[in-house]
Amino acid sequence: MKDFKVLVSEILKNNIEELSLEEIIDLIEIPPNKDMGDYAFPCFKLAKVFRKSPNMIAEELSNKIETNDEISKVINMGGYVNFFVNKSSLAKKVIENVFSQKENYGKSNFGEGKTVVIDFSSPNIAKPFHIGHIRSTVIGNSLHKIYSSQGYKTERINHLGDYGTQFGKLIVAFKKWGNKEEVEKNPIKELLKLYVMFHDEAEKCPELEDEARAWFTKLENNDKEAKDLWQWFRDESLKEFSRVYDLLDIEFDSYAGESFYSDKMDKVIEKINEKGLLKQSQGTNIVDLEDFNMPPALITKNDGSTLYMTRDLAAAIYRKETYDFEKCIYVVGSQQSLHFQQLFKVLELMGFEGNMVHTPFGMVSLEEGTMSTRKGRVVFLEDVLKQAIEKTKETMLSKNPNAQNIDEISKVVGVGAVVFQELSNSRIKDYIFSWERTLSFDGETGPYVQYTHARCCSVLRKADEEITSNINYDLLNDEDSIEVLKIIDSFNKNILNALRKNEPHIITRFVLDLAQAFNKFYHDNPILVKDLELKKARLALVSATRQTLENALALLGMKAPEKM
Ligand code: ARG
Repeated sequence: MKDFKVLVSEILKNNIEELSLEEIIDLIEIPPNKDMGDYAFPCFKLAKVFRKSPNMIAEELSNKIETNDEISKVINMGGYVNFFVNKSSLAKKVIENVFSQKENYGKSNFGEGKTVVIDFSSPNIAKPFHIGHIRSTVIGNSLHKIYSSQGYKTERINHLGDYGTQFGKLIVAFKKWGNKEEVEKNPIKELLKLYVMFHDEAEKCPELEDEARAWFTKLENNDKEAKDLWQWFRDESLKEFSRVYDLLDIEFDSYAGESFYSDKMDKVIEKINEKGLLKQSQGTNIVDLEDFNMPPALITKNDGSTLYMTRDLAAAIYRKETYDFEKCIYVVGSQQSLHFQQLFKVLELMGFEGNMVHTPFGMVSLEEGTMSTRKGRVVFLEDVLKQAIEKTKETMLSKNPNAQNIDEISKVVGVGAVVFQELSNSRIKDYIFSWERTLSFDGETGPYVQYTHARCCSVLRKADEEITSNINYDLLNDEDSIEVLKIIDSFNKNILNALRKNEPHIITRFVLDLAQAFNKFYHDNPILVKDLELKKARLALVSATRQTLENALALLGMKAPEKM
């Protein structure tokens, strides 16, 4: 069943040919105070079209529109058509919808038959999986949940940075200063140390760079020693990344990273050449993008080796052939915006067809400055998650020393706190990572929402009442209940909005609004009252809220604990 905003928009659409349904939906507002009704449609935009005053248009429309079971009143208020919904029918519709669809409430088959490729997380081998990667990881995972919930098939791809000249450096550093046991004990920290050491030493002794290049060429030519070392770096790094993915409960459909395309490079270069796009410039091969106001896309270096760009071109073509996607989304930081503009432009010039989307996000910096892998100034994601879990445990034990399942719940809540904090910033905003803010349990945080869910569960447990039928919906027409119901009603619309904008932040906002409205209802209205009919009606609202919170948290990649 549709939500009320859509219903109101459809009624308007029947009376306004000049605007599309989408346009009407976008114009609808919620009046600032309840006496003014539940939805308002401004007529200012129509004034030009009809050559009449907004007030006259609103007057005519409100006279034309008939009331029915769902809409009890329609009036003109200074150029707005204001709608009053029938409260009991709103309650009945919303609650029955949630009860009948349960964990499917909010889902649709909007994207059935379509595939979306989501390229996300994609850390670099032998480099830290740091707090900067978490945004890609968490946003990408949430987009996967959001698209899947609307019927799309998703392909989650971890485009690992497992190829490139830095592996030559790493091989040199390992052979000179490395120790196998140390690396196995602590792979990334140890490999990072070697990488930093290489750069320090290379400043004094530039020949090291030549050695590194030579090793990379060996790797490209499948030299056994080079390949074995590279494979080992990759395996050990992946083991470490997997620990983080397990903590976050995130999976991928493919780990085809950059190296996967190393044997597909010649074909791509040939194709670019065939299209007459390849240009030589000082020994390198480029695609000139001057006509599009962009620097050239570098395809091969002067030693013939390929680049990040070349591998991304190969990956796009491979993915199109393999998945026949409707859309391919790259969840990568905004520092790489130019790279993706160039990539998409070259693809277009090659005659490639496909809806390619770069979904950028803002930078994460540390309080002491930007992160720098080379200088070793990074915060490791695993440390953040582990500390979040520890701190949650302390907080919970201080509240209830006998709490059960404490380890499991601290994990769900601690990890949830980090995930929620990442997703509650609008995607594109830069932000400064702060331990304190991430782990705070006050304000608009993950633990607050999860606690609201646990509170619903606790009320339902205490009531132990069957509440799926014979509910008197007239008892839910007070302001607090209506507010909660309207938010629940708008769930699907919010999901679609988040999907269109690739913006999970819209779901975190939704979840916070619902939690806040519910908590107001909870404080103002006793639920476990003597009056059985009233108790049942209120419990129905609690139950519908609980289900919606659980479903919405799932879209963020978070769990909804029953006890906290
Ligand atoms: N490995 C890259 C990095 O850490 C991100 C890769 C993103 N995906 C892509 N297809 N370029 O910056």
